[in-house]
Amino acid sequence: MKSMIHCLVTVALVVAAGSASAQPAPGPAAPAPAPGSAATPTAGSATPAAGSATPAAGSATPAGSATPAEGSAAGSATPTAGSADGSAAPAAGSAASPTGAPGTATKPAAGIAWYDVLANKPIEEKGTFWMPKSVNSAADDSDLMFYSVLALSAFFFFAILIVVIYLTWKYRHRPGHKPQPSPAHHDALEITWTVIPTIIVVFLFWYGWRSYIHVVTPPQKAVEIQVLAWRWNWQFTHANGVTDSDLHVPAGVPVRLVMTSKDVLHSFYAPAMRVKQDIVPRRYTYAWFLATKPGTYRLTCAEYCGTSHAQMACQDVDKHTGACLRRAVVVVHAPGDYERYLADKQSEMMNLPPEQLGKMVYEKKGCNACHTIDGSARVGPTFQHDWGTSIKLSDGSTITMDENYIRESLMSPQAKARPGYPPSMPSFQGQLKEKEIEGIIAFIKSLK
Ligand code: CUA
Repeated sequence: MKSMIHCLVTVALVVAAGSASAQPAPGPAAPAPAPGSAATPTAGSATPAAGSATPAAGSATPAGSATPAEGSAAGSATPTAGSADGSAAPAAGSAASPTGAPGTATKPAAGIAWYDVLANKPIEEKGTFWMPKSVNSAADDSDLMFYSVLALSAFFFFAILIVVIYLTWKYRHRPGHKPQPSPAHHDALEITWTVIPTIIVVFLFWYGWRSYIHVVTPPQKAVEIQVLAWRWNWQFTHANGVTDSDLHVPAGVPVRLVMTSKDVLHSFYAPAMRVKQDIVPRRYTYAWFLATKPGTYRLTCAEYCGTSHAQMACQDVDKHTGACLRRAVVVVHAPGDYERYLADKQSEMMNLPPEQLGKMVYEKKGCNACHTIDGSARVGPTFQHDWGTSIKLSDGSTITMDENYIRESLMSPQAKARPGYPPSMPSFQGQLKEKEIEGIIAFIKSLK
C-alpha cells in the first residue's frame, strides 16, 4: 500500500513538473490576462471545485456570480479593460453603478470639481474570492506567481486526496486477503521525488526573488508623492504643494510614495495595485507602482490603528449610523489630466470663501472622523452649536469657545482638552496654511 502511494505521488509530481515548466511560456506572451488564463487549465483539470470557480475569474476577474447585477456588470467590464485611456473611466463607472457596491457614493453634489467627480465614482473592484484585476504593470509577475502556486497546490491537494481515498478503498481489509510485504527502499523512486520537487521550488524561489527585487526597487524617474498617515486620515502631498486625502496619480508613469505616520502604525494598501506597505512613525517607507488604466480604485489602511481604522479617511459619514459612505480612493488619471488636477486643485484651495474652505478642510483632513456637525458625540466633541459657548475643561476650569481656542486646539490638542474624550487628536502644527485655519474657524462659527 505504501509503495503504491509513493508510486502515484511520484507520477503526480512528474505531471506537475510538466505543467509547472509550461507555466512561464504563456506568461510573457500575454502579461495582462496571464494570471487568469494560466491558472484556468491547471486548476480546472485538477479540481472540480476550482474548475467551477474559474470561469468567473476567466471572463472577468473582479466579478463573482453572487448577484445577477454583478454578473451583468462583469460582462460589460471586460471590454472596458481593453480601451485603456480616458474613455475607460466613465464606461467602468456605468458598468459598476447598478451593483451599488458598499463604500461608494454615486451622486456627487452639484458644482463639485471634476477631479472630485472622478473620486466619487464607484470603485472598479468588486469583492469576490479572486483578486481584483491588476492595474499595476509591476504586479504582473507576482500575480502569475500567485496563481501558479495556487494551481500547483490545488492540483497536489486533490491528486493526493483522490489517490489516498482510492487506495484506502482498494486495500481495505477483506476476508481471504493477506497483507502483502512492503518494499523498504527504492533508489530510483526516491531520487525522482527529491529532484523534481527541488527543481520546482528552486524555480519558484528564483522567479519570486526576481519579481520581489523589481517591486521593492522604484525606478529613478518617478512622480514622487509624500504620504502622511494619522488616526484617521491620509494626506497626499504633491510636488506643487497640493494636498488631498484621495490619492491622484497619472497613468503610464511610475509613481513613488514616500510615506510616514504622525502617530501609530498604518499600512497603505491599494489592492488593484498589489501595493501594501506599512507606514511607520518617525521613519520613511516607500512604495511604487505604474498604473496601467485610468479609473477609481480602492485604498485602505491595512494595519489596525484604533477606533476608526475601518473608516480611515472617510470622506462621507452617514449622520445617523456613523457608517462611512465613501472612503478615500486612488484616482488614476488619463495622460494630461494629472497635471490639470494639480493646477485646478491648487487654484480651488486658495480661492474658496473661508467658510467653504473650512468645510473642505474639515472633510479632507479627516476632522469628520471624530467631530460631527449634527450634535452627536463621536471620538471628539461635536462642532454643532459649539461656537461662543462656555465649555468645561478636564482641569475643571471653563473657557469660551472662540478663535483662540480653536487655533490652540489645532496646534496643541491636549493643552485644553475636554473631559470624557480620549487624547487621540494629533497636532496640526505646520500642516495647515493660515487660510485653512481661518477657514476652519469660519466653518465652526457657521454651525453655532
Ligand atoms: Cu490607519 Cu488602520
